[in-house]
Amino acid sequence: MRLRVDAGGREITYLEGGQLTRQVATVRPRTLVLLHAFPLSASMWRQQLWAAPSGWRFLAPDFRGFGPEASLEVGNGAPSIDDFARDVVDFLNALSIDQAVVAGLSMGGYAAFAVLRRAPERVAGLVLADTRATADSPEGRAGRLAMIERLDQVGVAALAEEMLPRLLGATTREQQPDLAPVIRRLILENSVQTVRAAILRMLSRPDSTGLLREISCPTLIVVGDQDALTPIPESQFMYERIDGANVEVLPQVGHMSNMEQPLGFNQALNGFLALHF
Ligand code: MLT
Repeated sequence: MRLRVDAGGREITYLEGGQLTRQVATVRPRTLVLLHAFPLSASMWRQQLWAAPSGWRFLAPDFRGFGPEASLEVGNGAPSIDDFARDVVDFLNALSIDQAVVAGLSMGGYAAFAVLRRAPERVAGLVLADTRATADSPEGRAGRLAMIERLDQVGVAALAEEMLPRLLGATTREQQPDLAPVIRRLILENSVQTVRAAILRMLSRPDSTGLLREISCPTLIVVGDQDALTPIPESQFMYERIDGANVEVLPQVGHMSNMEQPLGFNQALNGFLALHF
C-alpha cells in the first residue's frame, strides 16, 4: 500500500519496508532511500522492501508524476533532474530523517548524483546500480528527442514496447518470461506528461564525473553483466574514480538488476549495509 507525505507543499507517494522491525527497535532505525528507474515507479523496489534487514527502514518514493497514485507533475520552468533532488530532500525533511543511504538505479542514480550535489551532508552512503556518471552524448540526446516525438504520437505503450527488450537481459527474457509483463504494467501506469518531463530531465542532466572523486561516503556499485543501457564500462568508470568503492557484477542479469535477480541484488545491498553501517 502506498503511503503519502506532505513534503515542501507537495504530496509524495512512497512505499516502505522494514516497518515491523522499526516498531520493535529500541534504537532509531537507519534509513535507505531507493530511487527508481525510468519509466517505472517505486513499485520496482518491492523485492528489496520486503527484505529490509533488521534495524533498517527502506523507503521508496515515486518521483513526481510517477506511480499508480501519482501526484501531479508540477514544475515551473524547464524540467530538471534537480527537481527530483529537491523532492528527495523535502521527502527526508518531511519524515525528519537527517541522513540516509541513497540508492538509485539508472535514472535513480542520476537523481542520487543530484542529491549529492544539492545536500551531500544528507547522504550517509551511496548505492549506484546500473547507472552512469556521464551526461548524455549528442547522439543520446538526439535519441531522447526522437523518443519524445514517438511518445507524443503513439503514447506510453509504444515506449514500453521499445524499451522492454533493452531493460531486461537476454537470460531474463528467455528464462523469466513473466517479468516483462510486470514491468510493462508499471510503465503503463505513468502519463505521457510525466514520462516526457523525465526524458527532458535526463537529457539535460549535467555530467557528474567531477563529483566522483569528491565522494567520501561508503559506496556500492552494482551492475548486471548483460546491462545494455548502462553497460559494465560505465560502472568501471565510476569504480576507478570513487575512493574505496565496492563493486558487484551480477551474472546473467540485464539493466533491471534488482528485479531480474532480487536475491543476488539483495545479498549485495544488505551485505554492503551490514559492512558499513
Ligand atoms: C533508466 O533505466 O532509468 C533509463 O533507461 C536511463 C536512461 O535512459 O538513461
